[in-house]
Amino acid sequence: MDNIHPIFDKILKKEDKESLLNQTGIVIWMVGLSGSGKSTIAKSVEAELHSLGFLTQLLDGDNLRAGINNNLGFSEADRLENIRRAAEVAKIFLNCGVITICSFISPTEEIRAIAKNIVGSEHYFEVYINAPFEVCEKRDVKGLYKKARAGEIKGFTGLDSPFEAPKNPSIELKTDVFSLEQCKDFLVEALLPKIE
Ligand code: ADX
Repeated sequence: MDNIHPIFDKILKKEDKESLLNQTGIVIWMVGLSGSGKSTIAKSVEAELHSLGFLTQLLDGDNLRAGINNNLGFSEADRLENIRRAAEVAKIFLNCGVITICSFISPTEEIRAIAKNIVGSEHYFEVYINAPFEVCEKRDVKGLYKKARAGEIKGFTGLDSPFEAPKNPSIELKTDVFSLEQCKDFLVEALLPKIE
């Protein structure tokens, strides 16, 4: 440690960035099955917050898996690492005062606890995008359920890989009951008091 000179006291804080942006940073962590509507709602919430003048960043499973996480698959260990890295990236944006919207299946309590712990529980807002497995399978937007049923994808979430419903999310959005527009409105309404 002799030759190491920490500069933390000179580094600008989250609050400094936030006052510049005139907003409070938060990490919105969207949880749900593939095809439940996470990415769709995330995009629409981001567009609305942007139009209201907030600085946002979207982090999405499929996108991160094409880049920073392109060496990871869908084993339990890889999903854990996927979420750990995503949460670390989210924390960097959070500390820059940005409204950070994360969209990952995040299938287990353990995985979500890791994300929450990295981000800090006071900044972590969990959104359960709840659509029954049968509904997601029927939608099959990406054709993955069909492939998984045919045995072409192994370890598919909800089929032969676990999905544990969040026990105590900050908010739950039932996408088989409410429209995209309604879900977006519910979420924006819940967020505004926290980010203004
Ligand atoms: S997570 O489990 O590690 O949180 P993540 O959200 O990054 O998952 O990626 C999920 C996306 O990967 C799905 O929306 C789907 O497009 C794709 N995918 C490919 N294989 C699988 C699989 N075995 N299980 C779930 N999703 C898969």
